[in-house]
Amino acid sequence: MRQIVTTKNGGIDVLQVQDAPDPQAGASEVVVAVKAAGLNFADILARQGLYPDGPKKPCVMGYEVAGIVEAVGAEVDPAIVGLPVIAMTRFRGQAEKVVVAERQLIEKPQSLSFEQGAAIPVNYITAYALLVAMGGLQKEESVLIHNAGGGVGLAALDIAKKIGATTYGTASPSKHEFLRARGLDHPINYRTQDWLPILKELTNDRGVELVIDPIGGAHWKKSYAALRHTGRLGMFGVSAASANGFAGKIKLIKAALQMPRFHPLGLLNKNRGVFGLNLGHMWHEPEKVMEWVAAVMAGVSEGWIRPHVDRAFPFAQVGDAHSYMEARKNIGKVILVP
Ligand SMILES: NC(=O)c1ccc[n+]([C@@H]2O[C@H](COP(=O)([O-])OP(=O)(O)OC[C@H]3O[C@@H](n4cnc5c(N)ncnc54)[C@H](OP(=O)(O)O)[C@@H]3O)[C@@H](O)[C@H]2O)c1
Repeated sequence: MRQIVTTKNGGIDVLQVQDAPDPQAGASEVVVAVKAAGLNFADILARQGLYPDGPKKPCVMGYEVAGIVEAVGAEVDPAIVGLPVIAMTRFRGQAEKVVVAERQLIEKPQSLSFEQGAAIPVNYITAYALLVAMGGLQKEESVLIHNAGGGVGLAALDIAKKIGATTYGTASPSKHEFLRARGLDHPINYRTQDWLPILKELTNDRGVELVIDPIGGAHWKKSYAALRHTGRLGMFGVSAASANGFAGKIKLIKAALQMPRFHPLGLLNKNRGVFGLNLGHMWHEPEKVMEWVAAVMAGVSEGWIRPHVDRAFPFAQVGDAHSYMEARKNIGKVILVP
């Protein structure tokens, strides 16, 4: 089979499509023939050497796939061979075949293409955990979604719309028209102006009840300042560090140094909460994650979860796919297809 290998830290030239032996399923596992694999910002940070959770290089990245069950281990019902599935993968998903534990499989609804299926796990489970499980967003509340036009951003918008909350979102201006059509109430250009005074003006100086922030560093301080009393800040990424080589290391150190320190008395007197989320550190809590998956898949059948695939790149063009995302061109999900 063919697989995408991140051979070492660096620019897109370190990405190679290589041949590898077909993987074999263990007793409680299945082999999925991959039709579509998700690309995530974490894959870019991993390539840049800025993602501590990534495997040792050379490695095959990939947290999510959609495909067809090709073979099963001794303890798995062989009747599922041929079943179209979506699966969360702890890496190695960006390959023609991947082995996953049977319990990580989700049956792919017919209403979704394989590409849409592969756009579900990381983006929607992250967004569900941020907005519902940890953020507790309510109908009469408002939420600020940073990078609203990205993969997690669009997923969060679907969920916030379903809840009925008022939605604010920062995004590059080229994405605003699309975001309005998807239901975002207040798109804010954050690229050429400061978004905080604009948000304050839009909210009569009150701020919002929930902010989800994947940018990190000093940006978390600013997002905290955007909270209304009873507001919560969900921190879940450090996009601010993204850069190749030495520049990335410097940006990561800068982001770490500029992170806010939250004092209990400050939280108490301002009636605020802060929380973090790292889905990659939830593998030991499968019951919780599968509960979130069930809620998201119910949303697919009810029609309010609408995974949007921007572009699908063949494996051979994986470098272009990384560049596309790094250049902020994607609206929603970028997919890799064998
Ligand atoms: N903690 C978790 O469990 C978890 C899970 C999933 C994702 N995440 C994090 O969530 C964020 C979004 O992930 P995603 O996979 O959905 O990606 P994405 O949002 O589709 O990523 C690309 C978008 O991010 C925005 N962006 C902001 N700063 C950027 C920068 N320095 N370089 C390039 N783009 C930048 C751009 O949108 P604009 O054009 O609007 O600027 C760009 O289009 C990432 O930080 C990721 O690490 C965390």
